[in-house]
Order: sequence, then structure tokens, then C-alpha cells
Amino acid sequence: MQTIIILDHGSQYTQLIARKVRELNVYCEIHPYNKIPDLGPEVAGVILSGSPCSVRDENAPQTDLSFKGRIPVLGICYGAQYMADKFGGEVIASKIREYGRARLSHIEAGNKLLKGIPVNSQVWMSHGDTILRLPEDYTLICSTENVENAGYKVNGEETYAIQFHPEVYHSTDGLKLLKNFVVDICGCGQDWTEASFIDTTVSNLKSQLSNDKVVLGLSGGVDSSVAAMLLHKAIGNNLNCIFVDNGLLRKNEFEDVLASYKDMGLNVVGVDAKHEFYDALKGLTDPEKKRKAIGKTFIDVFDAQANKINGVKWLAQGTIYPDVIESCSVKGPSVTIKSHHNVGGLPEHMKLKIVEPLRTLFKDEVRKVGKSLGLKPELLNRHPFPGPGLAIRILGEVTGEKVKILQEVDAIFIENLKREKLYDKVWQAGAVLLPIQSVGVMGDERTYERVVALRAVESVDGMTADWSHLPYDFLAEVSNQIINRVKGVNRVCYDISSKPPATIEWE
Ligand code: XMP
Repeated sequence: MQTIIILDHGSQYTQLIARKVRELNVYCEIHPYNKIPDLGPEVAGVILSGSPCSVRDENAPQTDLSFKGRIPVLGICYGAQYMADKFGGEVIASKIREYGRARLSHIEAGNKLLKGIPVNSQVWMSHGDTILRLPEDYTLICSTENVENAGYKVNGEETYAIQFHPEVYHSTDGLKLLKNFVVDICGCGQDWTEASFIDTTVSNLKSQLSNDKVVLGLSGGVDSSVAAMLLHKAIGNNLNCIFVDNGLLRKNEFEDVLASYKDMGLNVVGVDAKHEFYDALKGLTDPEKKRKAIGKTFIDVFDAQANKINGVKWLAQGTIYPDVIESCSVKGPSVTIKSHHNVGGLPEHMKLKIVEPLRTLFKDEVRKVGKSLGLKPELLNRHPFPGPGLAIRILGEVTGEKVKILQEVDAIFIENLKREKLYDKVWQAGAVLLPIQSVGVMGDERTYERVVALRAVESVDGMTADWSHLPYDFLAEVSNQIINRVKGVNRVCYDISSKPPATIEWE
């Protein structure tokens, strides 16, 4: 398969380059600059990412460029400065740090990389160094008002470099530039689509797994569901799915999702383990201890169930690409790794081999594949839901009674979001049960009951988030319904904190 290799020098934008290349239906992989894979005939081109470093730093990443001249190369920002510096040019610190929007004031006519991009096109700059002088044999291909050497080409080679970031939204013609590189210069066929991914993956899974049995834990989330569908397509009923009711799911979720899985033809067993989880959570108030207890109980329950499957050889997981990309530590990793790990790994004694059919996909690609495999919209478009479930939305000790109250509150909130067509506008929403009681009045009586907080956020990846500005009338209606219908709750608050400094969950 034709592949573009992106060599990461630690830029915060490296993943974005990969996403843009894939948007062009071209397959690409990210590798650290100092662990270059074998660049065989399937490698159609190499992109050198930016970096938080300066080429003048003592510890600046040194990339082995022995492929330059043989394979088309596109250097971006640091990648551009690095090649210029290494081959006899001069890179100096800019007098002013160039950050933000700029416009291309000159474009070399007929240049393949810049084909179809007009003078004045907006580009995004983010650099502290500038290329003062290009090496001999390098030709200037574009400039901005402040940066003369904004782009160059190496004569006689398909090697190009640009100082700005085409992968960033603010570079208006950035995608066109990347397309010029991967399609026209590297000759990639734009044939990496959901359909081709499904065909290749299913056929690889067939040969990898043959007649072996595989076990997979379903969570109700998109990743595990799509992984299950792919495996089911490849090996049918040799895929054994386990869906555990940890007693911490949303109202009716276990029954509804289990029914959907059965509808999809999956060979799935539902395990009611509510009481094991509640027992494990008894007396625990520290959020991390709660998470650990849930993780451990899950492994015990899953293990016991998996052991009932005769001769199972593989454990399938819904791992996706952002979990796999090896982070490049130039000045800290380029990828912020989430600290939330629900399942710390299965017991050694199971001796299962691991199969991860989604390990090359980004989240949005998993959704596209799921859609194309016919995954129901209820499963496809769900908000993210934390592995420890409602346990981290019940502050303090978790009990079955508190779970029931929170399930009712949460269900009213979510139903209303759906009814008012707000569900898909919000990235994630839920309710939190606070460990306090407040005074209220109902009829002639004074009440002393629980307080809940509603949380709804806008986000792209959960790393940062802003609170959703839901309409007041909507919030008023939801609050009324909760207080009137959920016994034991007499006060509703709306969380208006953004992340950072707050987080999405309260624990
Ligand atoms: P925070 O609270 O860190 O949440 O802003 C960011 C995203 O991660 C989810 N989250 C978790 N997911 N196990 C998970 O699988 C966890 O322990 C966990 N804690 C938070 C949270 O729901 C949000 O989508």
C-alpha cells in the first residue's frame, strides 16, 4: 500500500499533518525522527514535521536524510530549517518571533507544490528561527512580506520545504498544498478509503486468525463496537464478545446496548456483575482508589467469563492510532497521553495474543468505518462515556441507591438534549451527584435533600473543553423535570467551568 511517512520532530501539529493526509484518502504513518522505518518501495514520500526545537539548539533532533533525492520529501517549519541548515544554508533567530497569519506575497510560477495557490493566500506561521540564506542549488519558491525564504525546492530532486504550516486550518490553501505533494509529486492514488480499509483489514484478520477463537470486551462505545464488527465479518462466531454490566452504566443502557449487539448478529454474552462492583466500591471515596477497584473487578469478571470459552487464543482490543503513536520526546512528548487507563491489562496466565484491528485509525476514521459497516446511529454518535461510568460522577462513596438516583437525573437530561436536538451539538453531557444535601421547600414542608450538577461541554478531543451555552429555557425545563420527578433531589446546578483549569468529570 502506498504510504507517506511523517517523521516527527515533536511538533504539536504532527498528528494534524497525518489527519490531513488521510483526509486526502492517502495512508500515512507517524514515526519518531530517530526511528525511521525501512523505506521500501511502498513509501511514496516523506514529510518532516516541525519541532519545538531550534536547529541551533545543542540537542536539536538530527534526522538521517539519506533518503533525500531518492524519495520525495516535504519539510515543514523545523523540517525546512533543518535541511537548509544541514546542506550549507544559514538559519538565524528571527528578530521577532513569527507567529500567526501571514500572506504569500510571491509564488514561483509553475511550481508543482504551489500549483493552484494564489498570491495573497493566507498561511500560518509559528517559528522563532528564519532561513536567512538557502544552500546552493536550492531555489526559492515562495515568500511572505516578512519571510523571504518561506519555501524552497532542491534543484534536480523532488525535495520541497515550507516555513509555514499547511496542516493548520488557518492556512487557507494548506490542504491543496498537501494534495499537490502527496498526489502530484509522490504519485499517491487517493484510494485509501473506508471500503478499502475494511476489505484489507478483514482479509488480513482472516489470514492472521484463521480458525482461532478470539475474545473481546464490548463497552458500548464506538471503538469496541467497530472492532467487533470487523472481527465478526472476518471470523464470524469465532469472535466471542463479553459485555459486562458493572452497575455504573446509564439507565437501561446495558439492556438496550446488549439488544443492539445481538441485532447486529454478534456472538455476545452479557454478564450482570453489578454486585461485584458495588462490593468492591464499598467504603471507597478516593477517586483513584475507585478507578482502581473498578479496573480490577472488571479484569476478574472478564477473566472468569473468558475462561469459559474453550480454547480461546486471542484477545481483541479497540485500541486506536492516538494510543499507539510513539511519542517523540524532543522537549516532552508531542502527544499528551491520557492518564485514564481503565483496564491495566489482563492476567498473564491467560496467555492471550493481542489483535487490534483499529490500531491505525484516528477516532473520526473509526466512526466512518463504523458507519460504512452499518453501525447504528445510536451507537455511532454517542457521547464519550468514561470507563468507570457513573462511579466518578457520584462524588464520594458509590452505592446502588445513589446510582439509581443519578441514572434518573442523567436520563432526564439526555432525553431532553435529544428531544431539543441539542445532543449532537454537545460533545459530552452528564450529571454529577454531589455529596451534600441542601435545604428546600416542597408544598408546606421543608426538605433536606441531594444536589446534582449538570455538565455539558464542547470539545474536539476532550483535552480542552468549554462549557456548552445551553439555552436558559432548556436548563429551566430540565431542572424542573428533575426536581419534580426524581425523589431525593431538590436542587440542580449547571457547571460553567472550562477545561483547563477544571476537568470535564468532577473526579
Ligand atoms: P477529564 O475529566 O479528564 O475527562 O477532563 C476527559 C475525558 O476523559 C473521560 N474520562 C475517563 N475515561 N476512564 C475513561 O475511560 C476514566 O477514568 C476517565 N476519566 C475521565 C471523560 O469522560 C472525558 O471524556
